[in-house]
Amino acid sequence: MSCNLTVEIAGVSFKNPIFVASGTFGYGLETQELTDSSSLGAVITKSITRHPREGNPPPRIVETPSGMINSIGLANMGVERYIDTVIPRIDEIGTAVITNIAGFSIDDYLYVMEKLEACKAPICGYEINISCPNVEAGRMEFAVDPELTGRLTESLREVTKKLLIIKLSPNVTGIASIALAAEQAGADAVSAINTVFGMSIDTQSRSPYVQTNVGGLSGPAVRPVGIACVYKISRKVNIPIIGIGGITSANDAVEYILAGASVVQVGTANYKNADTARSMIDELELYLAENGIENLSELTGGVIPNE
Ligand SMILES: Cc1cc2nc3c(=O)[nH]c(=O)nc-3n(C[C@H](O)[C@H](O)[C@H](O)COP(=O)(O)O)c2cc1C
Repeated sequence: MSCNLTVEIAGVSFKNPIFVASGTFGYGLETQELTDSSSLGAVITKSITRHPREGNPPPRIVETPSGMINSIGLANMGVERYIDTVIPRIDEIGTAVITNIAGFSIDDYLYVMEKLEACKAPICGYEINISCPNVEAGRMEFAVDPELTGRLTESLREVTKKLLIIKLSPNVTGIASIALAAEQAGADAVSAINTVFGMSIDTQSRSPYVQTNVGGLSGPAVRPVGIACVYKISRKVNIPIIGIGGITSANDAVEYILAGASVVQVGTANYKNADTARSMIDELELYLAENGIENLSELTGGVIPNE
């Protein structure tokens, strides 16, 4: 039995639902010797900002039970260099590329997107990292406020017709309300989740392991958090949901899809083995064949909740 793994989000077609997550796969070019990125559904780049950023001081990564905490602080080459050095080589990635954008004001996000639109970058869309402090709103993160999320989404929607994905933070009281604000402001999809606040302390030195004290937890430890977020969002919005958080196998991906995701992203697992996402595609096809499912879309939201 042949299974159809292709998925469409707002008119954009992807060869399969296995994407790689922002910040765990570079700009899509660095991993070429480690895996065949052309077989992936899409590659999401590291967050790109208006200016280049060194990020936070080290140490900025620590391993934790079933996961890791990072405080990279959006280290990246900045949009000018991205356009000069990565965009001309984007064909080498061999699959759809989604550029992730971060910023500290609405203007910052607009600046990056307008530059990419102006150079007609051959990318299929944008993922917007809204887990960033807004300097105009007292450093409150865009992600925690439906109004800020809505305003940002609306401003970006005016600039692009390409796929617009808003990436949500789990560090909020009601993630589904933020998703709804993004949908109402014109987002094509939402992705969830970004990292979960985490802290780990060396009991000898009494110092936290990462320099910024608190960082972002990712990996299998956050998977149930991500699945619950996707489930809650799916009850509130109609746009497609991209599931992220602790995915290491096709079975993990299916859990997210049953909870309501149309596609998934693999993040931290890439650090262990950059070939993880690619190997999941065959595994997923096998799962579908074994379960007599012809189209992946039949699975989306297929969870049978307990009464
Ligand atoms: C080292 C590291 C760097 C990350 N950098 C970014 C980033 O630049 N932009 C972003 O939107 N998410 C970033 N993330 C979050 C991931 O894309 C993902 O949402 C999160 O880690 C949960 O997925 P996972 O458990 O599969 O890693 C980063 C995660 C890690 C571990």
